[in-house]
Amino acid sequence: RRRSFLALAALLTLTGCEGVQGNAGTLAFTTPLHIPPVLDPVAGADGVKRFPLRLQEGRTELLPGKPAATWGINGGHLGPTLRAKRGDRVAMAVTNGLGEAGTLHWHGMRLPAAMDGGPHQMIRPGGTWNPEWTVDQPAASTWYHPHPHGQTARHVYRGLAGMFLVDDDTPVALPSEYGVDDIPLIVQDKKFTSTGQLDEDFGGTFGLLGDQILVNGTYGPFFRPTTSRVRLRVLNGSNAHVYTVGFADDREFHVVASDAGLLAKPVALKRFKISPGERAEVVVAFQPGEQVLLKSFNGDSDIESGDFDLVKFTAAATLRPSPELPSALAALAPLKQASRTRTFRLGGSNINGRNMDMTRIDEVVPAGAHEIWELDNVTYAHNFHIHEVAFRVLDVDGHQPPEHLRGPKDTVYVPGKTKVRLAVEFGHHTDPKTPYMYHCHILKHEDQGMMGQFVIVDPGTENGTPRTLSMPG
Ligand code: C2O
Ligand code: CU
Ligand code: CU
Repeated sequence: RRRSFLALAALLTLTGCEGVQGNAGTLAFTTPLHIPPVLDPVAGADGVKRFPLRLQEGRTELLPGKPAATWGINGGHLGPTLRAKRGDRVAMAVTNGLGEAGTLHWHGMRLPAAMDGGPHQMIRPGGTWNPEWTVDQPAASTWYHPHPHGQTARHVYRGLAGMFLVDDDTPVALPSEYGVDDIPLIVQDKKFTSTGQLDEDFGGTFGLLGDQILVNGTYGPFFRPTTSRVRLRVLNGSNAHVYTVGFADDREFHVVASDAGLLAKPVALKRFKISPGERAEVVVAFQPGEQVLLKSFNGDSDIESGDFDLVKFTAAATLRPSPELPSALAALAPLKQASRTRTFRLGGSNINGRNMDMTRIDEVVPAGAHEIWELDNVTYAHNFHIHEVAFRVLDVDGHQPPEHLRGPKDTVYVPGKTKVRLAVEFGHHTDPKTPYMYHCHILKHEDQGMMGQFVIVDPGTENGTPRTLSMPG
């Protein structure tokens, strides 16, 4: 407690963070939680699953009775839930219906760099981008959002984001009826003007810290469980806010998956921290007829501020029985011997003292490598996301991470003045000319250039790989 108070006091002096107040106790919870519809793909004769996606402008009542200018995918705000199974060939047709260039990145997907939707795969207004890949990774809750260099914060904040669920054939008895007992929760903070428009003031050390929360785009949502257990796929889709998620009555629940897939076994917890870009799947039990709030409690990070109410659960009077929670979930592969260690010093808004340069390749990695990436945060809180890979958190300042962070991940919270070591497993899609990104997922920091580029190349060709890219036009 004392430590967190000191950290907060230090932050207030450091950033002048205007003491954003949480929304706790102010919401009526009269609006049903929006469940993003699953977009059924069009299956061609070739077996490829085709997903048409359109980035578009919209007007959405984010606050009841106050239509706001928003952006969405196949709709006015947020996007549909995409779903594919390991082994599926998927083909996206992403049309940019916005008045400016954008991209769509598949956060958590392991795919060739040219399909990644990072800053090198810009879609001009009116243009359509057609990435295609074979899904080959374990079941996970991934997501998608734009990634245009320098503009990501604004694009995501206006509403461009959605979930992309990967399924596989491994049988696990977890609640899995989408929208019934398997619920996505896209948690995003907003700041509104007096007329209910999105306030786009991204000033301040961390950019925008909102004082209101939308879950799946719904303000003050309730959800009605009809089963004795519900799986919540929590995505922190916020620009900067870190949340400490738990229930108002401090009930215990089980975390079953991290960003990139299932944990070895369910981990009983009352609260967990989640930073922008991270996902956590939890299973929680309800009693018939009860009501309980899911909340974010003020925590000890530099980027939390006050208590927030997220969703009110109002359980039905009778609940269908759910399967017992399995005692084991996934057989996680033992970590392989790392071939080398790379160090990344996280500064205010740079990595190793450098800002993102679209023409510079920062790291060259041989295909299939297992490496240790050491993050040395010398400033205030950041987080770190690596495209294409899955990693495991080895240690935080020399200590084993908490059990729910020992599963497969692609994004990790890095508290201020802390060292985090990751065991990173790289894929096999080689392309010496198209980089993947690694970056802080606090979107203002990313936009400010707290991002670097790596390529995956055939083993043995690292030294001959050019470190500069010539950019087309
Ligand atoms: Cu979620 Cu490089 O992004
Ligand atoms: Cu990503
Ligand atoms: Cu950062």
